Amino acid sequence: MSVNVGIIGVGNIASMLVQSIEYYRRSNEYTGVMHAVIDGMRIDNINIVYAIDVSENKVGKPLHQAIYEYPNVVPKLIDPDELRCKNVIVRMGKILDGVAPHMVNVFKPSSQPEPTADEIVEELEENNVDVLVNLLPVGSSEATRFYAKVAAKAGVSFINCIPEFIASDKKYVSIFKDNNTLVLGDDIKGQLGATILHRAIASLLSMRGCKLVKSYQLNVGGNTDFLNMLDPSRLTSKKISKTMAVASTQPDPDTIKKYIYAGPSGYVEFLGNTKIAYMYLEAISYGGARLTIDVKLVVDDKSMAAAVLVDVIRIAKALKERGIYGSPYWASAPFFKHPPKQLRSDWEALSLLYMKLEELGININPKYVFY
Ligand SMILES: NC(=O)c1ccc[n+]([C@@H]2O[C@H](COP(=O)([O-])OP(=O)(O)OC[C@H]3O[C@@H](n4cnc5c(N)ncnc54)[C@H](O)[C@@H]3O)[C@@H](O)[C@H]2O)c1
Repeated sequence: MSVNVGIIGVGNIASMLVQSIEYYRRSNEYTGVMHAVIDGMRIDNINIVYAIDVSENKVGKPLHQAIYEYPNVVPKLIDPDELRCKNVIVRMGKILDGVAPHMVNVFKPSSQPEPTADEIVEELEENNVDVLVNLLPVGSSEATRFYAKVAAKAGVSFINCIPEFIASDKKYVSIFKDNNTLVLGDDIKGQLGATILHRAIASLLSMRGCKLVKSYQLNVGGNTDFLNMLDPSRLTSKKISKTMAVASTQPDPDTIKKYIYAGPSGYVEFLGNTKIAYMYLEAISYGGARLTIDVKLVVDDKSMAAAVLVDVIRIAKALKERGIYGSPYWASAPFFKHPPKQLRSDWEALSLLYMKLEELGININPKYVFY
């Protein structure tokens, strides 16, 4: 079995995703991969068949070239001529609020005519797209909702990687249900990104009887994702998503959330795709003693996201094949910061996912937790 994917936003994650599929196609082993096989599909069973952007540097170009265009900074891991998406021409999208005023000179929106929703629905059908992946800039509230409705209308599963609440909004979930299709989201976690590490440490404190009292997570990076997030008006849902991901590991999330700060904290251009996260956690341990933890995490921001995306794409296809519609929280909880329902720890989330997949007869290998 294979899965046909459409991408909205040919930015740095898209570049890493496209290149990493070819990287693992050539490799005899799966170092760095979370799940080598899902429902019989390996990473190279993912076909990118459709792509949308609005940048004049990318629209109209074949995808294997568009992924290297400015302002993308993911380096060439693979010779572009070796990529298998040469026939995919990036089509012009609907701009709406995708390009913030301070990003106009960076994303350079094209003046080509914008498509109607029906035109995109038709193209998704023509290209047999199974799964549409939302990789728009943070703050693309209207644009995300436009593409989500298009996906639902076309009967295509929607993976919402950004902090706009779609999979966790009942109104949108019912649109997907009514169209017999699926939505997974919201706001993708990294493979070992700041959220997953912060949650793991916070869960550990809780599991060992310590009371978390204060915590922050400061993130800096040098790609367009960080540049875009310099506008605080685009960050409301990002902050909720990141803060609640950590607060939900604690017995009383609503109280502790006031003492957690987690969000993007700066743009340092020379860092490129390197993301640095600084975390601080303060807790009360036995006998009232104070305990503090300081962590510095350095990762390639886009490899973190692509690693999780290749799992979610295959799970979306497997669920579609089994007729699972709407927004199954257990399929989103291990992979997204703001799923429809948060579980206390990522161990719990992964165990529940494995259990549900087993019930549906979907194999996933290897498995990391026992249940
Ligand atoms: N670790 C991670 O990288 C991570 C984790 C969680 C969430 N995310 C989110 O994923 C999203 C994608 O990240 P990225 O680094 O690839 O972003 P990016 O800035 O590299 O790319 C965004 C792309 O969207 C295009 N675009 C803008 N408006 C559009 C529209 N209306 N229609 C179609 N295309 C449009 C831009 O031209 C650009 O090519 C961001 O919102 C980011 O915050 C990333």
